Amino acid sequence: MTQDYIVKDISLADYGRKELDIAETEMPGLMALRAEFGESKPLKGARIVGSLHMTIQTACLIETLVALGADVRWASCNIFSTQDHAAAAIAAAGVPVFAIKGQSLEEHWDYLDKSFLFDEGPNMILDDGGDATLYILLGARAEAGEDIIPVPTSEEEAVIKAQIAKRMEASPGWFTKMRDQIVGVSEETTTGVHRLYELHKQGQLPFPAINVNDSVTKSKFDNKYGCKESLVDGIRRATDVMMAGKVAVVCGYGDVGKGSAASLAGAGARVKVTEADPICALQAAMDGFEVVLLEDVISDVDIVITTTGNKDIVRIEHMRAMKDMAILGNIGHFDNEIQVAALKNHKWTNIKDQVDMIEMPSGNRIILLSEGRLLNLGNATGHPSFVMSASFTNQVLAQIELWTRGDNYENQVYILPKHLDEKVAALHLEKVGAKLTKLTAEQAAYIGVAPEGPYKPEHYRY
Ligand code: NAI
Repeated sequence: MTQDYIVKDISLADYGRKELDIAETEMPGLMALRAEFGESKPLKGARIVGSLHMTIQTACLIETLVALGADVRWASCNIFSTQDHAAAAIAAAGVPVFAIKGQSLEEHWDYLDKSFLFDEGPNMILDDGGDATLYILLGARAEAGEDIIPVPTSEEEAVIKAQIAKRMEASPGWFTKMRDQIVGVSEETTTGVHRLYELHKQGQLPFPAINVNDSVTKSKFDNKYGCKESLVDGIRRATDVMMAGKVAVVCGYGDVGKGSAASLAGAGARVKVTEADPICALQAAMDGFEVVLLEDVISDVDIVITTTGNKDIVRIEHMRAMKDMAILGNIGHFDNEIQVAALKNHKWTNIKDQVDMIEMPSGNRIILLSEGRLLNLGNATGHPSFVMSASFTNQVLAQIELWTRGDNYENQVYILPKHLDEKVAALHLEKVGAKLTKLTAEQAAYIGVAPEGPYKPEHYRY
């Protein structure tokens, strides 16, 4: 049989498997779904393309999808986020996976292409940031002779166009065929969800989508408590710098910003926040963080972190004003939060993988993490298993929903119903020793809910 995977080193599979065994003990939601649906196999017939950071936690997600009957092919959604031992373990288990930590951008899009190559083509997408969806939709547009819609960075646009051209030449009509047989997509993150709503607004969403990010048990946990653990983990593994006493600025105070500010504050840094939204700015102030303009503080801070999902947050003029040896990193989905391209002509000294020292014209040096790509996955191993279990339990439920009941959905973006959100949380309580109070029938009636839930109205914000 020809080898149907691309990983760094297949001999890492044993190590990956051992870490997977540990992860399973921390992912009660996924394990509960295996117990609940392992026999009935609701994903039988589903051929899922996954484009999501190829970590140990994702390996546990993949094996859950397979246990529920799906065929799966996988690529990572970021060039630095793969854990090579996780990829090796998955490849050794017989799941085609195409992911290497430190792969080039060209390889990134080529590997994504390879993850679509089921014999009969895929029928489901599980996306993180929207690259798999984008690839197919851009390709189908190109086949129809239409202009392709803008993508994050101009450097990446050229690479995507080249990959699309390659595939169009090899298999004419391929993208349109792929697009037409996709039953649905479930999307993991804020930035990918934003793309899906834009597509829908432009009337260009050709299949139903489930926004997993806005399950409460995803964004209010992974984005927040996940970053609370993994941001400082990434900075420490990259730099070993003493965090206590340092001054940090966190750009953005959404879910990721809240977790990131808490992460730095927990490590003893003095944290400032920038925000564009008055509600989030007020939250930051009342959580005890000074809300500032980046221009006003940039020359005094030791650590600068972007968390906005927006572009051009740290611009060249900011970088020119930074202190000598200040640390600069991003934890948002795409690398365009920091104008890394503007540093191209500066002197770069590579310290180690995903850590560079850049000399500015003033002689000051900046420590740039993961070339501006999300540093918790580039410089560390992303969020811990427990919080990813909540995210991925939502992912699996979304895949089951779309695969088994796709006909009930229009070509729109949906979120999972609240009773499933509450189920995901419930599956994680025992592990943390939490005991849930049962409402009496009278109490439930008094607050207007059913005793077995849902416990909140749709408009409740948590
Ligand atoms: P969010 O929408 O909750 O928060 C972003 C915040 O940034 C908003 O409050 C917004 O007002 C603010 N903002 C936008 N432009 C700004 C500017 N110019 N200056 C200051 N603040 C600005 O989004 P969320 O969920 O916090 O996600 C942020 C990014 O992180 C997204 O790209 C998302 O995909 C990504 N993400 C990364 C994770 C990781 O593990 N690295 C985990 C989850 C999400």
